[in-house]
Amino acid sequence: MKPMSDPKIVVALDYADAAGAMKLVDRLDPALCRLKVGKELFTAAGPQFVESLVAKDFGVFLDLKFHDIPNTVAKACEAASRLGVWMLNVHASGGLPMMQAAREGVLRSGHSPLLIAVTVLTSMDQATLDQIGVTAKLEDQVLNLAMLTQRAGLHGVVCSAQEAGTLRQELGGDFCLVTPGIRPADASLDDQNRVVTPAKALQLGASYLVIGRPITQAPDPLAALQAIQQEIGVN
Ligand code: C5P
Repeated sequence: MKPMSDPKIVVALDYADAAGAMKLVDRLDPALCRLKVGKELFTAAGPQFVESLVAKDFGVFLDLKFHDIPNTVAKACEAASRLGVWMLNVHASGGLPMMQAAREGVLRSGHSPLLIAVTVLTSMDQATLDQIGVTAKLEDQVLNLAMLTQRAGLHGVVCSAQEAGTLRQELGGDFCLVTPGIRPADASLDDQNRVVTPAKALQLGASYLVIGRPITQAPDPLAALQAIQQEIGVN
């Protein structure tokens, strides 16, 4: 059974193995948060681990950022959707035919997860874009790829909260904006530079907030999650 609520917080399970991740998961509540499984944990723990989270009623964001030829991405998205995940993603720079194929793959699965795209990785700056032959200004490239994502019929994009205001304005109220780089006002920055508080990110137009260490490294992760819930005042 799926949770009835629509939790805005997606806890990033950045763990090396299933045992470490499960220790945290057992302290969380599927009515209060969703979970993000990325390449490290998925490679170590596999699809069975994802299915075990789904069986516990957690909404799972499978963050594998598929980027390949359209046929391969379509099949990967179909297989990922069959795991029962809530959300999955591809790279928008794979192009319109690849994103359309991804959408068709999801439809073929008989499941209906949210399908979103990564625009420009936030680890990239103008110089790294130039090196791969992209001459557009970084913020224009983000907007171009987000518009292409919408044209392909996907549900939304991953973006920094700082981009959320512009993207919300340009792409409308229904487009899903998923934002990492979130830090409560009193939290450590860790290795993030451009951070935004949970409340501010939602105010800027974010739909869902990806939060890792402020919850996973807290002495009491459930209490940390509940404190953020209280700060944003929504579930
Ligand atoms: O611990 P922290 O809150 O910094 O974790 C953020 C999560 O979001 C990590 O899984 C990280 O890989 C991911 N992420 C990010 N910035 C992006 C895209 C994803 O921090 N631009």
